[in-house]
Amino acid sequence: MPTLQIVIASTRPGRVGLPVGRWIEETARAHGGFDVEVTDLAELALPMMDEPHHPRLRRYEHDHTQAWSARVDAADAFVLVFPEYNHSYTAPLKNALDYLYGEWAHKPVGLVSYGGVSAGTRAAQQLKPVLTALSMTPLVPAVAIPFVWQHLQDGTFVPDDTLTGSAGAMLDELVRVEAALRSLRATV
Ligand SMILES: Cc1cc2nc3c(=O)[nH]c(=O)nc-3n(C[C@H](O)[C@H](O)[C@H](O)COP(=O)(O)O)c2cc1C
Repeated sequence: MPTLQIVIASTRPGRVGLPVGRWIEETARAHGGFDVEVTDLAELALPMMDEPHHPRLRRYEHDHTQAWSARVDAADAFVLVFPEYNHSYTAPLKNALDYLYGEWAHKPVGLVSYGGVSAGTRAAQQLKPVLTALSMTPLVPAVAIPFVWQHLQDGTFVPDDTLTGSAGAMLDELVRVEAALRSLRATV
């Protein structure tokens, strides 16, 4: 079965990203299309980009980069869980993406964004050109959560039917696109 890597991209204490990420993880496990792994960027704790060489060369000098490279290499598909900060996505997410290059290529990515009235959609739109620069395929079906704090009950994320439906549609598409891109990955 292909491996899905879910990346939780907010790192501040008390972040909503953790309950949202747990909900997506449970949903993906119940969906059954992937073996599911989770990376919490707060736990990964990458320093600001400190590799001397372009990631295209894979001449990594630091253990933290080697470990991150291996984890991303092993994944066939991704779901990124991120809030909107000042109409964009988070700095730790950009840093984690920039660390690597070929490890991301020809892999599909589902976007789970959240925020206030915008539901993180401005952040998602800014993220897409970065993902395509890495030869990733961002999906059209996505999960966009407006007024995210209204879905929290005692620290747990409680989705409504719309969000549950969006998550299912995104995961279904992730299965289809992952299978379609597999031949491209085989030729790299
Ligand atoms: C630095 C910062 C900037 C923010 N900017 C936006 C924004 O541009 N649009 C928005 O909808 N919400 C914004 N918010 C509110 C966040 O959507 C809300 O705080 C959310 O819980 C942040 O995700 P997190 O808890 O996982 O960090 C911002 C929050 C922070 C901390």
